[in-house]
Amino acid sequence: MDKYVITGGIPLVGTVRVSGAKNSALKLMAASLLSSEKTVLHNVPLIRDVLTMGEVLREIGARVTISPDRVEIDPGGELSPTAPYELVRRMRASILVMGPLLARLGRARVAMPGGCNIGPRHINYHLSGLEKLGAKINADHGFINVAARNLTGDIINLEYPSMGATENLIMAASTARGRTVIESAAREPEIIDLAKFLTSMGARINGAGTDTIVIDGVESLSGATHTVIPDRVEAGTFMLAAAVTGGDVEVTGANPLHLEIFTSKIRAIGVDVKEYDHHVRVKGGGEYFSTDIATLPFPGFPTDLQAPVMVLLSLAGGHSIVTENVFENRFSFVEELNRLGACIRTSGHHAVVHGNTRFEGAIVEATDLRAGAALVLAGLCASGVTEVRHIQHIDRGYEDLEFKLKGLGADIERVDTADRISTAVT
Ligand code: EPZ
Repeated sequence: MDKYVITGGIPLVGTVRVSGAKNSALKLMAASLLSSEKTVLHNVPLIRDVLTMGEVLREIGARVTISPDRVEIDPGGELSPTAPYELVRRMRASILVMGPLLARLGRARVAMPGGCNIGPRHINYHLSGLEKLGAKINADHGFINVAARNLTGDIINLEYPSMGATENLIMAASTARGRTVIESAAREPEIIDLAKFLTSMGARINGAGTDTIVIDGVESLSGATHTVIPDRVEAGTFMLAAAVTGGDVEVTGANPLHLEIFTSKIRAIGVDVKEYDHHVRVKGGGEYFSTDIATLPFPGFPTDLQAPVMVLLSLAGGHSIVTENVFENRFSFVEELNRLGACIRTSGHHAVVHGNTRFEGAIVEATDLRAGAALVLAGLCASGVTEVRHIQHIDRGYEDLEFKLKGLGADIERVDTADRISTAVT
């Protein structure tokens, strides 16, 4: 089990470049199954979830090559409709092969995704949408089976703008017969990136980024080459690292338009943020003020930055209320943050963050990806030494985090590097 050992109190200074977006790259990899031709993706982050998605696609029968600046997927051979339990259990995003397999093979058999540390993670919106397109659905032995001789376009009203359901349905509808309209669709930038990729494969999609997406099915899709958009959650994490350490950091490769509400909130707290076309500059160190935050689907405040922003709110004066509206249980990290000196109390979907915290180094455990990031941020501004354990969670979504932080002057070491991710490149 790897851990980070962090000596805090050092203001981070310098420039860091964000990697490609995890929450786009995984879907683009799944979408490659829609064509029998080769796909090439650039700016894919070299993170554990990308390696896992590569394993899923290989299990299905695609040839996958993952290197630091290029992922090549050749799904031209005989494909299996099954996404196996152990991979779906490891990564929920594996369920996003369901739409492409159904479209390509007429059937898919995907293990039910378990819950995780942030909630039960249902897939009912995915399934009811696929049923509208004509899929027959049943379950057996912990697997979901979906089948359809021909998918036929229809109007799908999502009862919640689910990101994954929107993505699965766009992919399934791209070669369905006729027109599909997805109402109350998710509006995340990653949805736009997926639509751009599918359009370059020959799909006909309009409205991505709005709450109404129209897909006119086409006969077949070709291979394509695509560059993944920057990771807005990683960008926000580094902006917060500058703020909580009182540093001065340029976060390059970020798209400020993907972070508007987040940026306006940290400015309200007292962080100096200057926005440019392809980067932001963040200066910390001033006085921070309590500010209430409620997470919402895009363009609202991103739930993936809820845990990390709690560290900044802990440094502010007064009390802040944080409301988690997207997931059922995304405060599991609070106990660990309180071990570092925070004073946060939660009740249901609300957390009250008491300010004026002086973080002190301690031994803590990451419970999920973004919780781990929050613990690292707290360690960076804590007095003394912090050990963040179970950082395999962090490896899932942050590429070379310790190297990037060291480049900004942080004193952070990875210990027990036996399974260092870069040796797993295939
Ligand atoms: C995506 O998860 C992201 N993951 C999450 O990022 C992100 O937090 C989330 O979107 C919200 O932005 C990836 O893209 C791989 P949802 P997803 O479907 O697609 C409920 C990270 O840290 N729901 O919008 O699973 C669900 O339980 C991860 O990078 C249903 O009830 O999100 C949740 O409470 C964490 N039924 C809420 O909706 C469904 O059929 C949001 O889910 C689908 C979802």
